[in-house]
Formats: sequence, C-alpha cells, structure tokens
Amino acid sequence: TSILVLNGPNLNLLGTRQPEVYGRTTLQDVEAMCVDWGKAAGLDVTCVQSNHEGVMIDAIHAAKGKHGGIVLNAGAYTHTSVALRDAIASVELPVVEVHLSNIHARETFRHHSHIAPVALGQIAGFGAQGYDLAIQALAKHLESAG
Ligand code: DQA
Repeated sequence: TSILVLNGPNLNLLGTRQPEVYGRTTLQDVEAMCVDWGKAAGLDVTCVQSNHEGVMIDAIHAAKGKHGGIVLNAGAYTHTSVALRDAIASVELPVVEVHLSNIHARETFRHHSHIAPVALGQIAGFGAQGYDLAIQALAKHLESAG
C-alpha cells in the first residue's frame, strides 16, 4: 500500500523558519524520514509539498485510486480552508492531520481546524516525530480496514 504525505504552505522553509517553534529539521530531512518510517510500517510513501491551496486540492484528488490514505500538514490552511476540507470529504480517503507544534497551546486562531472533522485524528506538538506517529496510525487503520 502507498500513502501520500502532503505538506502545505511555508513548510518548505522548515529548518530555518522559526526554529524555536518548528525545530531545525529541514523538509528534506522530514520527507526522507517519512519514507523510512513508511517502510518500517510496510507502506510506500510519496511526499508532496505546495504553497498553493489549489495544488494541494489537486494532490488530494489525484491521491484517490493511487494511495490508501494521506498524512496531511496543511499549515495555515488548516485554519482557513473549507476547500481543503471539502476535497478530503470528496475523496473519502483516510487522513491523519499532523502539526509540528501544539496548535492548541498557541494563538487562538490556530485552535480551530477545518481538517479535524474530516480526519481520522490529529497529532500535534511532537515535532517531526508526529509524522512517524501519523504513519503508524494510518498503517494500523489500513490494516484493519483490509
Ligand atoms: C503548523 C501549525 C500552523 O498553525 C502553522 O500555520 C503552520 C505549521 C504546524 O505544523 O505546527 O504553518 O501546521
């Protein structure tokens, strides 16, 4: 089974972007680790990052029939995008929402997620390790879903 790891806006700057909030690991490192974590969980991982809402929506549409599920860090679109939420609801693929930071411990505008109601679950606050937790959760879900 293959899964998509989809990262949204500004996550291409990981490593140098507010390292006190998001850590010093680069996106390239995170993506390489996701491939390894996927292998350990028996999943082929494809990684995509985009700063563009429409490109992310296209990636979600394209995942249908190609991937078993999605690990999604939608960045700030988490808090703003009904369109991303609708895309997830439309493809009916299991989605695990990930945030490096604990969005619930930050500014109020980060507390609400448009993604959460259409996600299997949310992992926030564990840095890059959150992607590993998300991949493991998705692998277990896909196993039990057959
Ligand atoms: C983020 C949290 C969002 O609030 C923020 O806009 C991001 C990154 C995280 O991974 O912690 O871009 O999704």
